[in-house]
Amino acid sequence: MSEELAVRMIGITKRFPGVIANDNVDFELRTGEIHVLLGENGAGKTTLMNILIGLYTKDSGEIYVWGRKVEILSPQDALRLGIYMVPQTPKLVRSMTVLENIVIGLKKAGIILPTRRAKKWIEDIAKSYYVLVDIDAPVYRLSASEQKRVEILKALVRHAKILIFDEITATLSPSEKADMFKFMRKFARSGGSIVFVTHKIGEVFEIGDRVTIMRKGKVVGTFDVSEVTADRLTELMFGRRIVVDVPHERAIPRDVALKVEDLWVEDDGFQSVRGISFSLRFGEILGVAGIAGNGQRELIEAIVGIRKPSRGRIYVNTNGKLMDITDKPTGWRIKNGLSYIPEDRIRYGIVPGMSVAENLLLGFQGCGEIVNSFVIRWDYVRSWADNIIRRYGIVAPSVDAPVRHLSGGNIQKLIVARELERKPRIIVAFNPTLGLDVRSMKYVWEILVRMKQKGVAILLVSEDLDEIFRLSDRILVMSEGEVRGIFDREEADINIVGRLMSRAK
Ligand SMILES: Nc1ncnc2c1ncn2[C@@H]1O[C@H](COP(=O)(O)OP(=O)(O)O)[C@@H](O)[C@H]1O
Ligand SMILES: [Mg+2]
Repeated sequence: MSEELAVRMIGITKRFPGVIANDNVDFELRTGEIHVLLGENGAGKTTLMNILIGLYTKDSGEIYVWGRKVEILSPQDALRLGIYMVPQTPKLVRSMTVLENIVIGLKKAGIILPTRRAKKWIEDIAKSYYVLVDIDAPVYRLSASEQKRVEILKALVRHAKILIFDEITATLSPSEKADMFKFMRKFARSGGSIVFVTHKIGEVFEIGDRVTIMRKGKVVGTFDVSEVTADRLTELMFGRRIVVDVPHERAIPRDVALKVEDLWVEDDGFQSVRGISFSLRFGEILGVAGIAGNGQRELIEAIVGIRKPSRGRIYVNTNGKLMDITDKPTGWRIKNGLSYIPEDRIRYGIVPGMSVAENLLLGFQGCGEIVNSFVIRWDYVRSWADNIIRRYGIVAPSVDAPVRHLSGGNIQKLIVARELERKPRIIVAFNPTLGLDVRSMKYVWEILVRMKQKGVAILLVSEDLDEIFRLSDRILVMSEGEVRGIFDREEADINIVGRLMSRAK
């Protein structure tokens, strides 16, 4: 590893209304290193990286790239300097092939190559960096992680020398994560530099050469990974120690709460869910394991009634009998005890411009104490909301503050709180802890377990295998829209589940 600095950020400060996201931050990235940027949710990691790639403008501070002082005003500026952030959600044209996607980008960047030569060149780059993807395949055929590989390839052909990965591993299977890490090591060994942003301490030791820890907008330390312990990192990250351990109690089998029978769901003319059947009982957590983009979203949307299945039936237990709800609207399902914790929290979970109290109220408008003959009793709502945010430990300036001012972890807590206050009988949770810091994650896990113990039926759809294995009583493995196996947790093997997740039929 060379000591030459690829990036040097000095005294970076960035304020948002009510928060200093970056407070006089110094950060250095050496040539040839994998530098982990560690911190809990809201620590300011993404903000710092967004400044580096020109998405945000800093309030003050200086940036040097390869020793030269620069002003980076856009991602294009950043790429000209060789800096590229691999997006969390790939931005590819789904109807075009991988090759076409890469080549359009090049044309825009002023590089024009005959297709045949471009293909050979791109394939060679892909091979030498172990970025395996079929470059003639149309993008819509690729899994989320394959699409990430295409994004990496795009960066490589554009001679990016500094890559930024922001919280990418949650959506990868264990073997995909291993592939990604293999690529990163190769890239660094070839003289590239990587900033690897994460809130998972374990990943520091899996992949990092050095680590910088952020807490509440400030850098609280930088270390060689070989010279630091997990305990020390935990302390720096949180200011106190936290143990993540969820009590696990085997579920007592009860009546079937939700039954899905030979369900087929289409998305854009493509059969995303292909003949899925399962039952979920009261008092159990059924984990659905799978790599993103294998039909989980469509399955959930059919169950909560946002998407109409093309075939098959969905039944819910009402008053002890299974009732066919396939054609019932979402509102009916919710009123009858179904609750949904969505993945895309900002888009589906909240109304960002509305206040904390108003967001808590969503879906409660019909409740007696709150709405009195069609008039919302605001004084009551505010004390009710205040009570909830205290009970659930939601950090918010006040119940009147707009929700968009809350951190991701607190927005998720708010959604969980709202859903649980409805006293649901069935919960569908979709990546409920994605992007949360350890503390919020533990909190959501504990609540799900508590609800299960109270007899609630929980369908936990998650890309995080660790989460699935910690919480589930049974594990259903989904791949390419089909069930690849259902296991009791005691007999499930994480390696077998991982293999079933990534294996095509
Ligand atoms: N565009 C924005 N507008 C307002 N506040 C923001 C914006 N981006 C980030 N923040 C706030 O800045 C703080 C740091 O956020 P972020 O950099 O995303 O943290 P991290 O990536 O470490 O989770 C948080 O309090 C967050 O709410
Ligand atoms: Mg972030």
